[in-house]
Amino acid sequence: MPADLTWLGDAGLKFDVDGAVATVTLARKERRNAMTPRMWHGLARIGSELLPAGTRVVIVTGEGPSFCAGIDLRMFTADGVPGEPPALPPEHEGFEAQVKGYQAGFMWLRDPRFVSIAAVRGHAIGAGFQLALACDLRVLADDAVLCMKEPALGLVPDLTGTKPLVEIVGLPRAIELCLTARTISATEARELRLAEWVVKDLDTAVAKLAAGLQATVPAAARATKQLLMQARGNTLEEQASAERSAQKQLMLSSRPAPAEAPA
Ligand code: ACO
Repeated sequence: MPADLTWLGDAGLKFDVDGAVATVTLARKERRNAMTPRMWHGLARIGSELLPAGTRVVIVTGEGPSFCAGIDLRMFTADGVPGEPPALPPEHEGFEAQVKGYQAGFMWLRDPRFVSIAAVRGHAIGAGFQLALACDLRVLADDAVLCMKEPALGLVPDLTGTKPLVEIVGLPRAIELCLTARTISATEARELRLAEWVVKDLDTAVAKLAAGLQATVPAAARATKQLLMQARGNTLEEQASAERSAQKQLMLSSRPAPAEAPA
């Protein structure tokens, strides 16, 4: 890991590695892990700069009673968040590029090289819910509460959450959840398949899941996740073809290198 990691703490983040499991922790519990652009850029930097090559599981979690209370609402005040540069206004030509930069903090969690798990206790609101949706799997403590609050604040959810939400719960339910901005209990989240598990002991359940995800052969796991991710957008024929091609590549890549000819 590089020596100077002050940017990580400044972004309100912690990052730990234990073997093939990396853990990203939102660490602003005094603000219920409310997020700022600096935190979103920090998340992207973790993905691009800190993640070891052999990582198989990335756990995303939050310190304290809430996973994440969404965007730091002081961003919408004249004073802003101390230490945080003001965001570009929507009329600025760089506005969409700015949001793309924020989204990068969420996008990397879909990388087929590893499986990402959101470990959610307490509230996951707005940007926090979208962070949980950016992960491949969600494990919820039984006190977890989800809410897509953005439309209630005059915003759209723009941190990559709308696609996974629709894919998981379907369009009608996604419309209902977003346009009422109501809260979803852990029990309902499990019924809607927004949670793989709802558990009493979150840390133990997530550690067990992380161990289970390492039971498969790394290259096969990567190729399989890639295949599964493209299945929805493919026809059956296209997907069958992708399976053949992936199998060929995987088998070729796992072949021992040919012995060198004697001199
Ligand atoms: N932004 C800035 N500060 C926050 C935020 C936030 N999103 N959420 C909580 N805090 C601060 C509170 O102001 C409070 O600060 P204080 O101790 O200085 O008074 C501290 O964190 C603790 O918050 P409480 O409200 O006291 O904690 P509680 O556990 O009772 O409630 C909850 C937690 C439900 C998350 C509540 O804080 C809340 O509703 N927060 C706002 C949620 C929100 O609307 N987020 C924006 C979503 S939209 C988007 O993300 C784009």
